[in-house]
Amino acid sequence: MSERSSIDPGLAALLQAAREVARNSYAPYSRFRVGAALKLSNGEIATGTNVENSSYGLTICAERSAVVRAVAQFGPGMRIEAVAVANLNNSASPPCGACRQVLAEFIAPDAPVIFPAADGVRTMAFRDLLPLAFEMKAK
Ligand code: THU
Repeated sequence: MSERSSIDPGLAALLQAAREVARNSYAPYSRFRVGAALKLSNGEIATGTNVENSSYGLTICAERSAVVRAVAQFGPGMRIEAVAVANLNNSASPPCGACRQVLAEFIAPDAPVIFPAADGVRTMAFRDLLPLAFEMKAK
């Protein structure tokens, strides 16, 4: 998968879902409204928004709230096949590092991640966004 690409038709609906859910964002502090949509291997779409808090560090990003929602709805075996991120601020918003690590738990390495970049919408394979995720190898 290339680093830059036009929007894959298969991802257009997912991106639209991310844009729509961003309208539900709770972002009274930053006013940066983000939405995320996950395409799951069971054919479902799980969405999430950022939810801020007056204790700023307690804020959860859109991507992580979508993951939490997907697990709650579909159980711990849910798998992510594609991710779309959008914001209503006409800004770049690639998934933050913390969200990449959380996505890593459930996502296929070659899953496309589509997000707003400085120069337009960008699509990257997850493995290129987080090449060396932490993995727990219990002994
Ligand atoms: N935010 C996300 O929702 N996703 C990211 O990947 C980065 C940042 C949110 C958190 C906060 O509510 C706002 O954007 C500004 O940082």
